[in-house]
Amino acid sequence: MGNVPLRIIQISDTHLFSDKDKALLGVQTQKSFKAVLDLLRQRAEPVDFIIHSGDLSQDYSESAYIRIAEMFEEFNVPVYCVPGNHDDPKIMSAVYPRGLVSGDRHIVKKNWQIILLDSHKSGAVEGYLSHLQLSYLQHCLHTYPKHHAIILFHHHPLPVGSHWLDNLGLTNADDFWQIISKFSNVNTVLFGHVHQEFEKIVNGVKCYSTPSTCIQFMRQQDHFGLENLPPGYRWINLYDDGRLETAVVRAATYIGTFEENAAGY
Ligand SMILES: [Fe+2]
Repeated sequence: MGNVPLRIIQISDTHLFSDKDKALLGVQTQKSFKAVLDLLRQRAEPVDFIIHSGDLSQDYSESAYIRIAEMFEEFNVPVYCVPGNHDDPKIMSAVYPRGLVSGDRHIVKKNWQIILLDSHKSGAVEGYLSHLQLSYLQHCLHTYPKHHAIILFHHHPLPVGSHWLDNLGLTNADDFWQIISKFSNVNTVLFGHVHQEFEKIVNGVKCYSTPSTCIQFMRQQDHFGLENLPPGYRWINLYDDGRLETAVVRAATYIGTFEENAAGY
């Protein structure tokens, strides 16, 4: 027992449009997402469930949310998701649960719990965890004090080293860090939004982001820019004793036309 990990795949920032062929800065987002799913299938990655860290859709269209659910069908495992700044949480909760995409916000399996929070702030690019979300977080951590906790939401709760992007993160990150500092069972924070691979340990809590399945933002740069890196996903193995192994896997090539001089998105 104990030695078989829980195996999670993190997908992020798919940015699908209502029009399946539409491109975001030279990348047809559905085609690029499909390339990442093809990679996941080809690697025959063992998976217990998939988590999506937001920006499922670029235009918050119902048809994009439905298509995402259809595209996950082949993996035959539950999919959990949180809204990003490009999503409409109301439309998402009208479409999901659908197929394998669950509407659940708390997963408890083996010695682990994954707490999914909504950091979407209406009409804003930056994020915010409402009082309700923070209360829910505390409730979950209190209720399962012995389960190692992973907290998932869209916006980054710490600087990633890019001035423009760090102005668009979780605006009440201090509240979040203050709350989780009271709980010894918080193991890891996962997020999307930054369209890049990132990792850092803060006060003993591991923090990871995952590349987008479409465009990648240039790392460590003060102004917006794209980086010529293929799309990818993150695999995460969780062991009963709290150990976590993880890495990012990328497609072989950039999917689409790399727009070197893109000035914003
Ligand atoms: Fe995004």
